[in-house]
Amino acid sequence: MAEATVRRPNLRGRFITFEGGEGSGKSTQIRKLAERLDAAKLRTIVTREPGGSPGAEVIRHLVLSGMGKLLGPEAETLLFAAARDDHVRTVILPALNQGTWVLCDRFFDSTRAYQGQLGQVLPELVNAMQRVTIGDLKPDLTIILDVPVEIGLQRAAVRRGSGAADRFEAEDIKFHQDLREAYKRIAKDDPQRCVLIDATADPETVSSKVWAALREHLVTAAKTASSA
Ligand code: TYD
Repeated sequence: MAEATVRRPNLRGRFITFEGGEGSGKSTQIRKLAERLDAAKLRTIVTREPGGSPGAEVIRHLVLSGMGKLLGPEAETLLFAAARDDHVRTVILPALNQGTWVLCDRFFDSTRAYQGQLGQVLPELVNAMQRVTIGDLKPDLTIILDVPVEIGLQRAAVRRGSGAADRFEAEDIKFHQDLREAYKRIAKDDPQRCVLIDATADPETVSSKVWAALREHLVTAAKTASSA
């Protein structure tokens, strides 16, 4: 279980999460942001969910194989939570406490969108799992990449090549449309933390928007903190 051991925000690294539907370009954008942060001499790690730690990667394999689905929506949610618990405790918190920036491909907003809003798992369970796994560790910034469903699924199919669609890629088009709306609601409900970015354009253009969002949100937050 994650204890609230993360140090005060100005003493620790920054925690940035990326969210979005299938084929929204998260991994490309995370890589580009990591390159920019490296160039700015900021120590950075890139990680992902489900997974990111040895224990959580085992659970990732289980969930994406479709095994979790067979257990039912609540048990599948518990699997994501168990993976997150290990990842936060063994990778994310130690890195942040050493002043390292953490860029994470998906985090608890994925559980809110996929299991909560689409899987119809009760908010009580989703909220309880959030409390247990991450405590008060919220991302400093969440970038939500938004693309029309047809474009996202086409990109995911190209990336996959001849491989089989995984547990969630294999859901029908209505699922992916609802997912897009779920992410828009998440962005609207938490504008201090989330930035919704149109990710239809080429990767360089999207990367510039991500960089601008990061500067705007974090530089503003730092100024507010230092003048308080
Ligand atoms: P992945 O191959 O990493 O997909 P993507 O490239 O789209 O991020 O697979 C992760 C899948 O797991 C993705 O379809 C979203 C889903 N997921 C959840 O349903 N709940 C969660 O809490 C997380 C972290 C992921």
